Amino acid sequence: MSAPIRKKRIAILISGRGSNMVSLIEAARAPDYPAEIVLVLSNRPDAAGLVRAREAGIPASAIDHKAFPDRARFDAALQAELEAAGVELIVLAGFMRILTDAFVEAWAGRMINIHPSLLPLFKGTHTHERALEAGVRLHGCTVHYVVPELDAGPIVAQAAVPVLPGDDADTLSARVIVQEHRLYPAALALIAGGGAVLDGGRVRFTAQERDAGAAILSL
Ligand code: GRF
Repeated sequence: MSAPIRKKRIAILISGRGSNMVSLIEAARAPDYPAEIVLVLSNRPDAAGLVRAREAGIPASAIDHKAFPDRARFDAALQAELEAAGVELIVLAGFMRILTDAFVEAWAGRMINIHPSLLPLFKGTHTHERALEAGVRLHGCTVHYVVPELDAGPIVAQAAVPVLPGDDADTLSARVIVQEHRLYPAALALIAGGGAVLDGGRVRFTAQERDAGAAILSL
C-alpha cells in the first residue's frame, strides 16, 4: 500500500456566489488530490458561497470588513483565523476586497487568485465588457500568484475561449466561467503537488507536468 499523500491545507476567500470555490471543494474530494480545503472565509456575511461551503461540510465564516476601522485591522483578523486553522496556502475565488501590501507580502508565494481574462490583458474589473470593446478574438482566464500590484503576479495557468460574433458580456462570461471551473482545480493541484514552482518571479514546471501541458487548457 502506498503512503497517504500529505495534503496542503487550503483556505478559500470569497465575497459572493462561490462557484469557483465549489469546483475546488469538489476536486479536493479525490483521495489523490494534493490539497484539502480546511476553511472558507468571506468578507461579506451575505455571500451565498458561505452556505454552499457549509453544505459541503467545510467550516465557513464571515469576517465583515465593515466591522473594522481600516484594512490593516481587517487583515489582522483574517490572519488570526488562517493561523488558527493551520492554513498553508490561500486561494482567492471572487474575493473582492483589496488586501494590504503587508498581508500580501506575508503570504508571498502562498496565495493565488483567478482572474477572468488572459492576463496581462484586462486587469481589474469588467473584463468581459472590455474584451468585447477591444475586439479580441480570444479571451479567457488566468490563475496567478498574488503580489501587491493588482492582477500582476506570476502566471500559473491559463485557459482561452473564442469570442464569437453576437457575444455580449453575459454570453462571454458564461463561456469563461466554465473554463475557470476546470482551470482553478488543475492549477491548485499543480502548486500543491509541487508540479509548479515559483522561480525568480516566473512559474516553472517540473519536467513531468510540462510534458503533460498541465497549465494550458485548450479551446
Ligand atoms: C470569477 O469570474 C473570478 O474569475 C473572479 O470573480 C468571479 C467569481 O465568481 N475573480 P464565483 O464567486 O467563483 O462564482
